[in-house]
Amino acid sequence: MLEDFISVHDLSLYQFSKILDLTQEIKDHPRRFQNKLKNKILAMIFEKASLRTRMTFEVGMIELGGEAVYLSPSDIGIGTRETPYDVGKNLERWVSGIMIRTFAHKNVIDLAEASRIPVINALTDLLHPCQAMADFFTLKEKRGDLLSFKLAYVGDGNNVCHSLLFAAAKAGSKISVATPPGYEPQPEIIKQAEGDAQETGGSFFFTNDPSAAVEAADAVYTDTWASMGQENEKEKRAEIFAPYQVNTELMAKAKKDALFMHCLPAHRGEEVTDDVIDSSQSIVYDQAENRLHVQKAILLKLLEK
Ligand code: CP
Ligand code: NVA
Repeated sequence: MLEDFISVHDLSLYQFSKILDLTQEIKDHPRRFQNKLKNKILAMIFEKASLRTRMTFEVGMIELGGEAVYLSPSDIGIGTRETPYDVGKNLERWVSGIMIRTFAHKNVIDLAEASRIPVINALTDLLHPCQAMADFFTLKEKRGDLLSFKLAYVGDGNNVCHSLLFAAAKAGSKISVATPPGYEPQPEIIKQAEGDAQETGGSFFFTNDPSAAVEAADAVYTDTWASMGQENEKEKRAEIFAPYQVNTELMAKAKKDALFMHCLPAHRGEEVTDDVIDSSQSIVYDQAENRLHVQKAILLKLLEK
């Protein structure tokens, strides 16, 4: 049974595919689920900004008949005003589940260990698992078969990239990653994802050359060059990452009908050009919509008892 949702790596293959199946059912028949979380309350801890994550968790809880309480970056002070342990020990007395967006991944682990209620990782510096689940649901919706699918990720080997590696491994897809030297995904994450892929036949290709990564790709994915918390590196990174921009020239090296993906927020003119993100190949708003459906499935798996 799923107790927390912290990393796609933690899911069994069965749990991974069941979440995607339930997502489809919720998307097709939302009314069937409208009272499933009646009387349940989700605490939503945000230590970083958000549009999609906040909206989709809050709207998701409302659509499932429950409620959500938003805690802003200035509210709790995890690790400064109070330890993750004490935060968890308090929250479990009042609510049915916790969703947290924070900096240190360890905060999420500590919170989950401390509290008896389910904890959902809504982005840390290391991972963004809800995003990757929504992305692979979106790809399944668009293309059906994920086994022969090749996803190319171009940019920073960051939280989004890490979770995509795990999701690709669970789905049995091929994933190629192009980053500047020194910005590769973490070796430990790659090792774990490679272990997961042994069960599914998923495969990985890592390079510093964006053209090599997108060759024969069915979808090209990028994310911001400077994540939340890296604002002071923005200028330096803009220079280093400039050759990794996803523009029409790079898209032309992927398959002719390749999809364009981005977790958003996008920095138009930096990691992606307007003509790519606004093209008919772009599925960025479908990804954003599917955050809602996939997180409703995750909430149901964790909170419906
Ligand atoms: N993709 C994503 O998580 O968006 P927000 O940062 O707006 O929540
Ligand atoms: N990598 C980005 C993702 C935002 C959804 C960040 O961490 O800021």
